[in-house]
Amino acid sequence: MTDHKEKMKDIVALCKRRGFIFAASDIYGGINGFWDYGPLGVELKNNLRDRWWRDMVLCPPIGPDGAPISIVGVDSSIIQNPKCWEASGHIGGFNDPMVDCRESKKRYRADHVVVLVSKDGEGASLAFDKDATDEEIDARLKKLAKGKTRDDFEKAQLDQVPAEGFTNIIGPDVKNAGTLTEPRQFNMMFHTYVGAASGDDNKAYLRPETCAGIFLNFKNVVDSSRVKAPFGIAQVGKAFRNEVTPRNFIFRSREFEQMELEWFCEEEEVPMWFDFWVEERTRFWESVGIPKSELYFLDVPKEELAHYSSRTIDVEYRFPFSAPEFDELEGIAHRGCFDLTQHQEFSGTKLDYFDQAGNKRFIPHVIEPSTGLTRGVLALICQAYTVDKDRPSGVYLNFHPAMAPIKAAILPLTAKEEHVPLAQKLYLDLRHEFAVELDIKQNIGRRYARQDEIGTPYCFTVDNDTIADQTVTVRDRNTMSQERIHMDKVKDFLREKIVG
Ligand code: GAP
Repeated sequence: MTDHKEKMKDIVALCKRRGFIFAASDIYGGINGFWDYGPLGVELKNNLRDRWWRDMVLCPPIGPDGAPISIVGVDSSIIQNPKCWEASGHIGGFNDPMVDCRESKKRYRADHVVVLVSKDGEGASLAFDKDATDEEIDARLKKLAKGKTRDDFEKAQLDQVPAEGFTNIIGPDVKNAGTLTEPRQFNMMFHTYVGAASGDDNKAYLRPETCAGIFLNFKNVVDSSRVKAPFGIAQVGKAFRNEVTPRNFIFRSREFEQMELEWFCEEEEVPMWFDFWVEERTRFWESVGIPKSELYFLDVPKEELAHYSSRTIDVEYRFPFSAPEFDELEGIAHRGCFDLTQHQEFSGTKLDYFDQAGNKRFIPHVIEPSTGLTRGVLALICQAYTVDKDRPSGVYLNFHPAMAPIKAAILPLTAKEEHVPLAQKLYLDLRHEFAVELDIKQNIGRRYARQDEIGTPYCFTVDNDTIADQTVTVRDRNTMSQERIHMDKVKDFLREKIVG
């Protein structure tokens, strides 16, 4: 196994061991593509969500002209009138090409499978997961390709192999050719039935993206609040996609959370606002602990753009499973006036905007920074995961203090009579303002190790000197260095360090 894959395996194990993320329905063997957040995972997720909400809605950035911009929030229903998804194009077009293997019974996304086609046309072609390492490919070639090496083949993507070539492909998990079906389109929306009857008339869908609820409420928001274009509407919430191949832990799941902003502006202003949002979103990721060096900005090629978009920049992060390459963390799309125009047509309700200053009506254009909250959580965990053989835990999570689920642990050096009451006093004083833990049991080394593994930035230890002079030691998670400060100064210390 490569280092990167090994690292991902270790991260998944730590997440379970320490209560960040569990497989959903774990005791029943799980359910593919669904995940539960444990006590620490939910805090981390809430921290990222709250920071996004604060930076977008409560305290949005200053605009390019130096004036504050205006963004309001909504929290719309997950199930909407199904006509919404006809208008948005999801019922007709939210499809992934998928391929089934008749023998292994596995299902693959055709664009996630690479095929090695022999250059001389002799022998079968071999299919692999797109993330397969060279070692994995070589091992299978040795078994199945009769002395041929990688150089005897050329790579193609499964969805580009012509239909007649399919009978000659050995699927990723089998030994004989001819078991793969041709790619079929597969609609990714989960559906349900509303009310007692379960006919087509009652069919409804779980939203595949949160932005739709924003477009549906555009008129309500304009009519009921004091927003003036340009302005934004933001929403955070669950989205559901019946992904053909959920993969890479919580990276691609079937139930996940998004944080989306729809920024409504005039068409002529699109380039300025597009650049503004790319810059702001980069600044956001840096401010929560993702360095720019780990980000890549992909200007999505025209032929790969979503049907509604004329320009998209994907903000990609170097996840361990993609390393040394990057994979999508957030998409910043120019959606044009597609959504409002479509919903206006399908609903028969006017969705234009009246600009009083300019005395004109127009359908605003939209720039959409759309990020996965749960994918963001994965990026924070991967970035924080730091191996350090010199400490007892062997690893620590280097979270930005504002993102850390627990900000500080209060530890009496021993479970002695004198240390515990003082530690309890400090704990009770801090817990009104900070997420802190009081941990009394086990030797101090073990308690430090646990806090390192869950990414707690500071440990305050009460010892004999505390009794004499009311000072405690502060241990810094990253450097493991310790200093003494007065108990009265602990709150200010934390306030200063955990700036959000
Ligand atoms: N409204 C636009 C939209 O939904 P998208 O690129 O399909 O665009 C936006 O999704 C973001 O949502 C992605 O960048 C990713 O962070 C997250 N996302 C999408 N599908 C996901 C999945 N199956 N699991 C986890 N996150 C997902």
